[in-house]
Amino acid sequence: MRVGYLQSHPEFGAVQRNIDQFASQLGDVDCDLLVLPELAFSGYQFATMEEVLALAEPVPDGPTTRVCADLARRHRLHLVVGLPERDGGTYYNSAILVGPSGFLGCYRKTHLFFEETLFFSPGDSGLRVWDIGPARLGVMICFDWYYPEVARTLALRGADVVCHPSNLVLPWCPDAMVTRSLENRVFSITANRVGREARAGKPPLTFIGASSIIAPDGTALARASAADPECTVVEIDPAAARDKSLNPYNHILHDRRPQSYAL
Ligand code: ACM
Repeated sequence: MRVGYLQSHPEFGAVQRNIDQFASQLGDVDCDLLVLPELAFSGYQFATMEEVLALAEPVPDGPTTRVCADLARRHRLHLVVGLPERDGGTYYNSAILVGPSGFLGCYRKTHLFFEETLFFSPGDSGLRVWDIGPARLGVMICFDWYYPEVARTLALRGADVVCHPSNLVLPWCPDAMVTRSLENRVFSITANRVGREARAGKPPLTFIGASSIIAPDGTALARASAADPECTVVEIDPAAARDKSLNPYNHILHDRRPQSYAL
């Protein structure tokens, strides 16, 4: 299975430009699964609720989901794409999964970071795993990495690959995802963005790049630069994530002792 990340540099609010740029790049990409960043086409640093209202879209009936589903059909691949979602009067920082057969599902970010808390509601979709045939995919978004329960829950629910759309600004995640993969013996694909946003007099945010694909044994199969857009694809065998035995005596999931963790 060929899987990859797109490390992009979107322009805030220029949704059509950002989507067009993505669509033109996709022709050169040969893969089965491509993960895009969090808020991939809207940009990240919202300054007012009016901007959220203007840029958030219903899922699956909004334009970004429709365009992505169409691209997934035409290029015969699966895409995980972050976007601001509107559901009635509630707004979520979400990621959609689309494939050759169309829209498959949506995950709403559980753990909001910093000023996201001003504009979005914590996700209520739960932590879901989708079986796309060659692999079972779990999705978490950016700051969800800070909560090891998220990747653990996805692994317990059968995820082989954790897809991780991100807009990272803190430095620790690229290293932490090695541990998230290792402790759950899953592949992880972190798709981060690069560039800087400093909108409406707010403190600047510099996105750290360093998108990565990590194997179940913690090996970094790919690691992007800190500053440049790129699209990287590697070959993986998702079955490697189904062997949870560390040695003949330790199966990392069966060896858990939930009774010792109860509060
Ligand atoms: C983040 O959750 N965008 C840091």
